Amino acid sequence: QIPPDVFSAGDYEAHARRALDANAWAYFSSHAGDGLTLRANRAAWDGLALLPRVLRPVQGLGTACTLLGREWPSPLLVAPMALQRLAHPDGELATAVAASAQGAGMVVSCEASLLLEDVAAPVRGNAGRGPLWFQLHFLPDRGAMLELVRRAEAAGYEALVVTVDAAVRAARGAEQRAGFRLPPGIARVNLPPQGPAPSDLRGLLSQAPGWDDLGWLRGQTRLPLVLKGVLHPQDACEAAALGVDAIVVSNHGGRTLDGVPATAVMLPRVADALGGRLPLLVDGGIRHGTDVLKALALGARAVLVGRPVLWALATAGAAGVAHVLRLLHDELEIVMARCGCSAPDQAGPGLLVPAPPPFP
Ligand code: FNR
Repeated sequence: QIPPDVFSAGDYEAHARRALDANAWAYFSSHAGDGLTLRANRAAWDGLALLPRVLRPVQGLGTACTLLGREWPSPLLVAPMALQRLAHPDGELATAVAASAQGAGMVVSCEASLLLEDVAAPVRGNAGRGPLWFQLHFLPDRGAMLELVRRAEAAGYEALVVTVDAAVRAARGAEQRAGFRLPPGIARVNLPPQGPAPSDLRGLLSQAPGWDDLGWLRGQTRLPLVLKGVLHPQDACEAAALGVDAIVVSNHGGRTLDGVPATAVMLPRVADALGGRLPLLVDGGIRHGTDVLKALALGARAVLVGRPVLWALATAGAAGVAHVLRLLHDELEIVMARCGCSAPDQAGPGLLVPAPPPFP
C-alpha cells in the first residue's frame, strides 16, 4: 500500500531500501565509480532556478506531449530499467499497467524479467495511454538482435530505443562490484543466453558497435529509432544525419561511467547544435515537477524517470508506480501554473536563472 508519509517521488527511496533485500538494493542503487555523475545530475537541476511569471492566463493549462507523431497526456516516460521482478513479483507488467493508467509512456528494457509480448499485451489497447517503446542494445549476434526487433514490432511497440552508452557486458561489471547475484527464477528472459564474456579489453572492443551499425539498424525497421545515451552535441548531429528520429540526452543515471557531465548541462548544448532537427528527451535525476519544467525549458520534449519508479514499484507495486507518476504530473501542473506556462511548448530559456548550488 502507499505509505502515508510519501509526498514526493524521492520519499519512496527509503521505503524501497527497507522493502528490498541487500542483493536487489545493491543492483538498483549501484552507480559507476564514486557517484560523481549520479550526484551531478541532481545538482545540475538544483543549480537552475525557475523564474515565475504572474497573472498570466493559465485557465486552459495542459501538459500534453507530442512526439513521433503521437500525443499523450503527460511529458513523462518510465525509463528502461532491467530486471524489475527483483523489485516486485509483478515486475515490468505492474510498471506498464501503472504508466498506461497515468497516461505516461513506458520504455521496456531488453533486459526485462518478463517477456516483451507479455508486458505489451495488457496495455496495448488502452485508450489514453502513453507510448510503449522497446529498448535494446547492440548485441554481438546481429541475427539475435534482429529477432528482438521483429518481436517488438509484432508486439505493438511504437519505437525502438537504442542505448549506446552501455554495452550489456559492461553493465555486468557494475553488478559484480555491487556484489549482485541473479536470484533463482529471475532472468533476462528476452535475451539469448550469453556465452562467456570476452575476458580482456581487446575482446570487448572487438564487439563494440559503431555508427555503421546504427545505419544498418535504420535500414532494418520502419519503427522510429530513438538514440539513448548521447551527451556530445556532435554525436547528436551524427545521429540526425543517419536518420534517427529522437535523442535521449542521458548518462545512464551515472551507472556506466563516472565523471561525465550532468544531463542538464549538456541538454541545452545538444539542443543548440541540433537547431530543432530532432526532438530531445532527457533523463537523470528527475525527481520533481520543477525538474520536468526545467528540462522542457532547456529544450526537452519529454523526460524519462528512472529510479523513483523502481523505488515505488518495490514499495507498493503497480499502485506505487501509478502514485509516483501522478505526483510528478501533479507537481508539473502546479509549477507550470505558477510559472505562467499553459502548455509545455511555452517553456523556454527565459524561465530559468542560474542558481549555483547550494540553492539558498
Ligand atoms: C537502468 N538504466 C537502463 N537503461 C537502459 O537503456 N537499459 C536498461 O536496461 C537499463 N537498466 C537500468 C537498471 C537500473 C536499476 C537503473 C537504475 C537504470 C538507465 C535508465 O534508463 C535511466 O537512464 C536512468 O536510470 C535515469 O536516471 P535516474 O532517473 O534513475 O536518476
